[in-house]
Amino acid sequence: MIKYLGSKRTLVPRITALARAVREHAGARTVADLFTGTTRVAQALKREGFEVTANDLASYSEVLATCYIEVDGGDTALRARLVEQLAHLDALEGVEGYVTRTFCEEARYFQPFNGRRIDAIRGAIDAVAGSRVERAVLLTALLLAADRVDSTTGLQMAYLKSWAPRSHQPLQLRLPELIAGTGRALREDANALVPTMAPVDLAYIDPPYNQHSYYSNYHVWETIVRDDAPAAYGVARKREDCRTTKSRYNVRGQAWDAFAGVVRTVPARHVIVSFNDEGYFAYDDIRALLAASFGEVAVVPVAFRRYVGAKIGIHNPSGVKVGRVSHLTNHEFLFVAGPGAAAIVDAAEQGSLAQGPAA
Ligand SMILES: C[S@@+](CC[C@H](N)C(=O)[O-])C[C@H]1O[C@@H](n2cnc3c(N)ncnc32)[C@H](O)[C@@H]1O
Repeated sequence: MIKYLGSKRTLVPRITALARAVREHAGARTVADLFTGTTRVAQALKREGFEVTANDLASYSEVLATCYIEVDGGDTALRARLVEQLAHLDALEGVEGYVTRTFCEEARYFQPFNGRRIDAIRGAIDAVAGSRVERAVLLTALLLAADRVDSTTGLQMAYLKSWAPRSHQPLQLRLPELIAGTGRALREDANALVPTMAPVDLAYIDPPYNQHSYYSNYHVWETIVRDDAPAAYGVARKREDCRTTKSRYNVRGQAWDAFAGVVRTVPARHVIVSFNDEGYFAYDDIRALLAASFGEVAVVPVAFRRYVGAKIGIHNPSGVKVGRVSHLTNHEFLFVAGPGAAAIVDAAEQGSLAQGPAA
């Protein structure tokens, strides 16, 4: 899966256990992941047998959701076609194009020999794919392959001064791990979606929690998917529209109203909400909002260590320690709201703690 800020990699077993407990207690069958990002959580829930809808604003996320959630991985004829298409794309000679110029010469996200391969493969995908879902799988394979040979720390607002060791590897397309069954992929503003969507048994809510814009931080994926060769600016060569495309969740004065709007309107009997104490929202406010909208609320606390830099401290260019790091850990919570929330959390934690604590 692509490197992604706020991805719930380590929390997936706990979220899955909670969803399973909601199914046991309330017969939940349908789930909406409203801010699906990498689709990790949606994928895990699809594997659990839920009927999943995965939504996000980003085009790259819609592609991932179409690949992992909408495509039926049990369709052997489709798999065979995709393997052939990927082999054809993987054998293409590189060509110099927008990605090579913008992201490998003007910036250094990929080595130019891999940039030329990305240009050639992206240029051919729309013609090679026989359908929208095939296109999404081929694009996902390209994003995953590019992510494996990039030269960043996982954010596309900067690249490493010296090439990352992995960037010397040749880009290689592989068939993504498709999941049997079908679901739905959407690309909508969650606030516009919830008033009109069909009711679901459970919604998972994991919005951005501070000013860092996903659209800007993952602009390379957005541009590869859209293939629209936008004007680029700055050292990071971001899409020009990164200046104006803002999620309300990234604006301090708007984020709470946006979040409260989703919680109050979402047509679900139960919700699971991810919360991190490094963002705009306060624990007590979320708890009160959920209690007002869903009645019962229970909490799974998950503490984890902050980045290593926080432990090392803040130093000036001469290596002298100059500041104090505010805290070494942040806290992440999963709120569960809806009928029987406390019993759901008890049941889930008894099962999932056996799988070990989150990192
Ligand atoms: C914290 S990340 C979700 C991470 C995800 N749970 C995962 O494990 O990969 C928040 C996501 O919200 C998306 N987003 C931002 N504003 C949105 C909006 N108004 N409606 C829907 N999605 C939005 C971003 O593109 C980003 O992928």
